[in-house]
Amino acid sequence: MKKDIVLTGDRPTGPLHLGHYVGSLVSRVEMQQKYDQFVMLADVQALTDNYENPQKVRENVGEVVLDYLAVGIDPQKTTIFIQSLVPQLFELTVYYLNLVTLNRALRNPTVKTEIKQKNMEENVSLGFVSYPVSQAADITAFKGTLVPVGQDQLPMIEQTNEIVRTFNRLYQTDVLVEAKAVLTKAQRLPGIDGAAKMGKSLGNAIYLCDSSKQLSEKVMRMYTDPGHVHVADPGKVEGNIVFAYLDIFDPEKEKVEELKAHYRRGGLGDVVLKKRLIEVLEAFLAPIRQRRAEFAGDRAQVMRIALEGSKKAEAIAANTLAQVRAVMKLDYIK
Ligand code: TRP
Repeated sequence: MKKDIVLTGDRPTGPLHLGHYVGSLVSRVEMQQKYDQFVMLADVQALTDNYENPQKVRENVGEVVLDYLAVGIDPQKTTIFIQSLVPQLFELTVYYLNLVTLNRALRNPTVKTEIKQKNMEENVSLGFVSYPVSQAADITAFKGTLVPVGQDQLPMIEQTNEIVRTFNRLYQTDVLVEAKAVLTKAQRLPGIDGAAKMGKSLGNAIYLCDSSKQLSEKVMRMYTDPGHVHVADPGKVEGNIVFAYLDIFDPEKEKVEELKAHYRRGGLGDVVLKKRLIEVLEAFLAPIRQRRAEFAGDRAQVMRIALEGSKKAEAIAANTLAQVRAVMKLDYIK
């Protein structure tokens, strides 16, 4: 049996947050022990809706690499690379674009949500609606078989596999390989405002690089139970964001159950409850902050890691591209 290959990426449009941690970073740290793993800074994908602000993308490439290193993604085990430094991906994208109808691209539920959220209905670009096709290139260039991502990325994997099947059937080949999404067991982490998803554009995120002060301010603003007005009132646990976080991050599960019972009975104030969450998140973030600060002391070294990874990634993508060109009768030079 062939060894699985893991590929994922992030758009570098801001530092990574707890939602990223729960949704994909934690599985990447685990998976690098067992598999060949590639983690991509999707700067070109980030530009599809940030083309007016390239400086933002540029700055965040460094921040996201720091986040990776801080959570324990190890460049000895994981190839960390920058998408734009692997131009083979964009040539693959052009070939794949022929295999996807415009209607199919417009049906992608994640793309639809983003178009609405970002008010792009009137003027959405071709680049933006086709980014899932480019993502198929990211995955297939490395023959990725496992893609640890959050729930919202499932449509991308589906689109990738449709392209793989169409390509292999049309050109009578098995050059491209289907991929499987790997979802973490944890449920999706809601935003501090109670929105279903944590996101930088939604302004409801707790970042891995937040200071203690920022962290406690955010927890204190967290959505609880609007019906829980007086400390003595019985409160609701379901839909209460503080409990959603405790469920995920508090290692003392029994204590969480006690807090839930107490909150339901009445007599447990939101402030006391939030102080417990601050304590839990501080303990979780402390070692991450510590490592981030160490790496941040040598930014040139951080960049070198990404550049070396990109060279390695380019060699692999070039190999897949050569196979693709051959089956597409584009192998003029052999
Ligand atoms: N679309 C992903 C996100 O927004 C980023 C991404 C780009 C990606 N290319 C990828 C994820 C390939 C997994 C595989 O987070």
